[in-house]
Amino acid sequence: MKQTSINIPVQIFSDFKSLEPADAQLLEAARKATGDAYAPYSNFRVGAAVRLGNRQILTGSNQENASFPAGICAERVTLSAASAAFPGIAITDLALTYINESGSSNHPISPCGICRQTLTEYEQRFGQPIRLILGGISGEIYIINRATDLLPFAFSSQELKLD
Ligand code: THU
Repeated sequence: MKQTSINIPVQIFSDFKSLEPADAQLLEAARKATGDAYAPYSNFRVGAAVRLGNRQILTGSNQENASFPAGICAERVTLSAASAAFPGIAITDLALTYINESGSSNHPISPCGICRQTLTEYEQRFGQPIRLILGGISGEIYIINRATDLLPFAFSSQELKLD
């Protein structure tokens, strides 16, 4: 038997003001995007913003549906929009934030499992890590160097290939 462990490096910033300007700009764009959420069922408004390899910023928000599973998370809305509008251009950073039903947002959230799987494949497609900037409207902000760090032992297209 062999034992190992997996470490996930996380940078923790005490507040928005301690961020690098480019990261603050991206998180601010994500905050604005919470206003575009369509979340009448959960009242949990999520905003995401991506920076592309060409430095362009695109935003997205969660889009729900009366048939609940048809709803889409802010991360996947934003990744798909970026990939459709700028095919072939890598995504380098993604900022994520939210406001809950009671208007509170004082700690980071991180992408759900499906979004982690999606982020992982974008990283693999472009051979480019996607830095995650995770923060509420107030409180600490976490920066994670690559989305794949959040999905160890990920299932990938490699497994689909026949030996
Ligand atoms: N949601 C996101 O958009 N991103 C996440 O990382 C977590 C959850 C959305 C999905 C749904 O519209 C609402 O938040 C409540 O789960």
